[in-house]
Amino acid sequence: MSSKKYITTPIYYPNASLHMGHAYTNIVADTIKRFNLLDGKDAVMSTGSDEHGQKIQSKSKEEGESPKAYVDKIVKNFVCLWEKLDISYDFFNRTTSSNHEEFVGNIFTKLQNKGYIYSGTYIGYYCVSCETHYSEEKYLENDKKCSNCGKDLKRIEEESYFLKVSEFNDWVKEYLEKSIDITPENRKKELINNFLNEGLRDLSISRTSVEWGIPVPNSKESTIYVWFDALLNYLSGIQYDIEKKTAKYWDSDTNIVHILGKEITRFHCVYFPIILKMLGARLPDKFIAHGWLITEKGKMSKSLGNIIDPISVIQEYGSDPLRFYFSNNIRFNEDSKFSIDLLKESYNTNLVNLYGNTVSRTFKMIQNLYDGKVPKYYESLVIHSEFKKDIDELFSSYLENFRNDDSIEATKKIIELLRKTSKYIDESKPWTFKEKSNEISTILNLCFQATYLASTMLMPITTRGSQKYFNALDVKTPSLFSDIPLSFDNIQIIDKINLYDRKK
Ligand code: ME8
Ligand code: MG
Repeated sequence: MSSKKYITTPIYYPNASLHMGHAYTNIVADTIKRFNLLDGKDAVMSTGSDEHGQKIQSKSKEEGESPKAYVDKIVKNFVCLWEKLDISYDFFNRTTSSNHEEFVGNIFTKLQNKGYIYSGTYIGYYCVSCETHYSEEKYLENDKKCSNCGKDLKRIEEESYFLKVSEFNDWVKEYLEKSIDITPENRKKELINNFLNEGLRDLSISRTSVEWGIPVPNSKESTIYVWFDALLNYLSGIQYDIEKKTAKYWDSDTNIVHILGKEITRFHCVYFPIILKMLGARLPDKFIAHGWLITEKGKMSKSLGNIIDPISVIQEYGSDPLRFYFSNNIRFNEDSKFSIDLLKESYNTNLVNLYGNTVSRTFKMIQNLYDGKVPKYYESLVIHSEFKKDIDELFSSYLENFRNDDSIEATKKIIELLRKTSKYIDESKPWTFKEKSNEISTILNLCFQATYLASTMLMPITTRGSQKYFNALDVKTPSLFSDIPLSFDNIQIIDKINLYDRKK
């Protein structure tokens, strides 16, 4: 097993403010990163902004600003949102940084020298919003619209450099089929059937009519295609060495996972691996291509006017409810609904009623009968061993799910643990014990263990609430799963606790 983990999110276009869809991706990535840190891995995460291209060029023009002044302003808001959501990224990759621009130029030259780039004329169609090329056939097949966003396609005819991806059609098909993990599985088949089976065409990777881009080395007229530029952020941000073909987080001891929305699977799972192959670089281990957040109007997107602004939701509810929602109420393989009502329901049911109440009931009982000092666990009392076994098993499956990057399944295990605990309290009726005894001592110890474990398991997800839980104890917050004590006897509860307030 590798000792390092590198998790990436897409770098987002700063043509508008980010919405809940972007928050979803970054929360999933951050949650997986935090889990891996607790699990003892050297885990890092990257995010960033995709600042070049025709779309940004025209948007800044509309706003009457230079492209750079415009993106600088918008990108500030990205950073601010990630801070409010407790997104603990290690790399924020801006494609306008000099490090990245120089890197992309060098890669272009490298591939040119290797004979993978040639010049010609591109004749075809283009979606500016998705920065995606369409062939004449696809243009007609799709009724002259972009199959992703539905906008009108524009005809382009201009001089262009091309990347010889067609030579890699069979290679990439085999790579997808045999050696790569794509979550969910069906996206793999979609790519192969809809895209690779008809054969890849060489990719146009430069524009003469777009000024706002990284210049093609030694060319006065051309700028580099924004997707070629953007995908390379995954390497430039971690200081990938083109000659040595490695980086600290791009070596054989790193588990590399890319998280993205399903509409950009083709760029990530086909073009990016081909570029890596051309460079002789190691290939990623996994792509998680999740479904969309939808509202009654369809995919949440600026153009449909159905976006929900995360900032105002965080102001009203805090970040934990949102982070929890994207771990518990969605599935990667489906489009998932999002609304304030659903968020509120998820929050009240799980964080307030289940987690919050189980913790406060447990603490209160220990405070009433044992002055807040967790009483001893008597192993000999076999009547309670069933519950102890349940807790331990759920914790193990949680680890297994999360080690597989399945934050969604892992969260189900936390909920199940809390439900079992709540039921255990109802059935063992600790409040009917008026005096100390080995039995009540064991019951309360087990309830405490369960809340301690649940809080540790929640640490990657509900960053604020779990911290609040540990602050109420006289022991330090675990920073690794291996810090979880073997015995919980005598831990002192030093404070009353109210983790979450109910929202009407
Ligand atoms: O595509 N549901 O940037 P972008 C779920 N710059 N996720 C959503 C979503 C929704 N309704 N809307 C957006 C780009 N996302 C390129 C990426 S990477 C080298 C370049 C999330 O600003 C999801 O992760 O259009 C999606 O893939 C991404 O935002 C698209 O962001
Ligand atoms: Mg988009």
